[in-house]
Amino acid sequence: MPFTIAIDGPAASGKGTIARALAQRFGFLHLDTGLLYRAVGAMGGDPVAAARALTPEDLLRPGLRSAEAGQAASRVAAIPEVRAVLVDFQRRFAVQEPGAVLDGRDIGTVICPGAQLKLYVVARDETRAARRAAELGVDPTEMLAQLRERDARDADRATAPLRAAPDAVVLDTTALTIDEAVARAVALVEDRL
Ligand code: C5P
Repeated sequence: MPFTIAIDGPAASGKGTIARALAQRFGFLHLDTGLLYRAVGAMGGDPVAAARALTPEDLLRPGLRSAEAGQAASRVAAIPEVRAVLVDFQRRFAVQEPGAVLDGRDIGTVICPGAQLKLYVVARDETRAARRAAELGVDPTEMLAQLRERDARDADRATAPLRAAPDAVVLDTTALTIDEAVARAVALVEDRL
């Protein structure tokens, strides 16, 4: 049976970095599900039609990592029909051999409630803003306001809000280096393999 790892958490908490490292370490496939919503937001027009028309090439568009693309993503991600269109693809991705890591907001709660490991990755707001601002070369104060706005929208929406699954392991990366955070996640996988 394939091993599925669900990683959720607010923006810039470290979940993408941990997801990539786990996939590499265990030879699993990785899907950054935020990219699906970023691509739908960037396609413009009717978001439901954009979600239906989404192709793998759309995930390679330049600019999808920008703060603006993140805000557009979180707006289309609040539309239940957009989320519904993307569910099957994510669930099929999750059950590939030998395993898959998916990171997002609703992986442990909605997409893969049966995942063998669910991680909920958090970090202090200022720490997350500083990390993302350094990555994108933008002002940390502006980034902090943007992250908070996006987290509030993601946590307050009616459909698949940002939440830890009841059985998720919470990993706070505020005071951890990347290597330390990855080592903790690796240990949690090894316990369950
Ligand atoms: O993870 P990332 O910051 O790229 O996600 C962009 C936006 O996509 C999030 O703010 C959220 O609104 C949405 N998203 C979601 N569900 C997921 C992944 C991302 O609603 N599983």
